[in-house]
Amino acid sequence: MDWCTLFQFLLSVLQLSQVVSAAAPSDLTVEVGHHVVFSYPGPQPPPRLFSLIKQGKVGGIILFGENVADNLSAIIDDFQKTYKDSPAGSGAPLLILTDQEGGKVRRLPTGPTASAKEVGQSKNAEKSAAQSGKDAASGLQKYNVNANLAPVLDVYREEGDFLDHYGRSYGNTSGLVGTCVSSFVRAQQSAGVIATAKHFPGLGAASTQANTDEQPVTIDLTLHELRSVDQAPYSKAIAAGTEMIMTSWAIYPALDKKYPSGLSKAWVQDELRSRLGFKGVTITDAIEAGALKTFGDDSARAVLASKAGMDIILASARNVSQGEAIVDALVGEVKRGSLPRKPFSEATERILAIRKKIPT
Ligand SMILES: *[C@@H]1O[C@H](CO)[C@@H](O)[C@H](O)[C@H]1NC(C)=O
Ligand SMILES: *[C@@H]1O[C@H](CO)[C@@H](O)[C@H](O)[C@H]1NC(C)=O
Ligand SMILES: *[C@@H]1O[C@H](CO)[C@@H](O)[C@H](O)[C@H]1NC(C)=O
Repeated sequence: MDWCTLFQFLLSVLQLSQVVSAAAPSDLTVEVGHHVVFSYPGPQPPPRLFSLIKQGKVGGIILFGENVADNLSAIIDDFQKTYKDSPAGSGAPLLILTDQEGGKVRRLPTGPTASAKEVGQSKNAEKSAAQSGKDAASGLQKYNVNANLAPVLDVYREEGDFLDHYGRSYGNTSGLVGTCVSSFVRAQQSAGVIATAKHFPGLGAASTQANTDEQPVTIDLTLHELRSVDQAPYSKAIAAGTEMIMTSWAIYPALDKKYPSGLSKAWVQDELRSRLGFKGVTITDAIEAGALKTFGDDSARAVLASKAGMDIILASARNVSQGEAIVDALVGEVKRGSLPRKPFSEATERILAIRKKIPT
């Protein structure tokens, strides 16, 4: 072999390895991708979303009213096929989520039609809640949606407050809320749709204007009240097997004066995991929420949430670049060692474990 042939040989090996690395996304990118839920604008997803799915950067997709197209179920099927047939495919489906609480808060034009408040006030609240859970599951499955960001566990305090305003709370006692949510969780999950108990440790005391989507909110209750009233339904939902829990973006000074629940190690790890014994998947509320305006851009917030122990980051600004920027930031943090690999990989295992249970 002369020098020229050798050079050409080495060049072809180099090119081949580049082709291989372009086709097979890095293990770390694919792992981080499991931790991020994307969103997109309008009824038709942008082609970019499909290419990100192929690269393994997408762990799930959250749907909003604006995404409702005549062929939404075919579009979701297309997401799943694209993922399954790509080198990044894990064998488990992507999470497809939406907020289908019931009553006014329903992103897809299907059940449950009754609001949580109506369920709570019905003669047999436990039975009505089971019916709502069943309706949510069958309605979402028509669209190939496999996870619901419901039920709401918040125990409202006053008529017309933030949770009561749209009838999103089952009631004003933890006993009633606990009964309804465990019944809803069991019914919906036994029909094959993942439930998400929200918003931990509780938004029930928030006033009408206190919306974390728009501004910072502080809920200054004693730890005793938070535990005995707001958190009580979580023990019931966990016992009922809820696969996911969503944290709130309010600040609860009783345990953490600085960080909102979803960025707080004290709430996520000490309270939810250690004290309440939750072993499922934690998911943030919208990472672009106004409540987080003092915590940097969406990527910086996602890094803080992951460091606090949150498993899934919800990039719901209906902008595909938002999710991608978050994945890239988390990959960088893991590489740098500032996001410790072991707890991060344990979170990945939890996420894949619930995705593997989804009926296909
Ligand atoms: C959904 O409908 C749109 C508009 O008619 C079309 O362009 C798109 O290819 C369809 N998608 C699927 C997956 O059927
Ligand atoms: C719940 O609401 C009912 C009806 O408005 C009221 O009578 C009751 O005192 C409230 N309970 C609590 C614990 O606030
Ligand atoms: C989409 O998200 C990216 C990354 O977070 C951001 O830079 C950009 O401004 C966003 N675009 C829109 C239209 O919101």
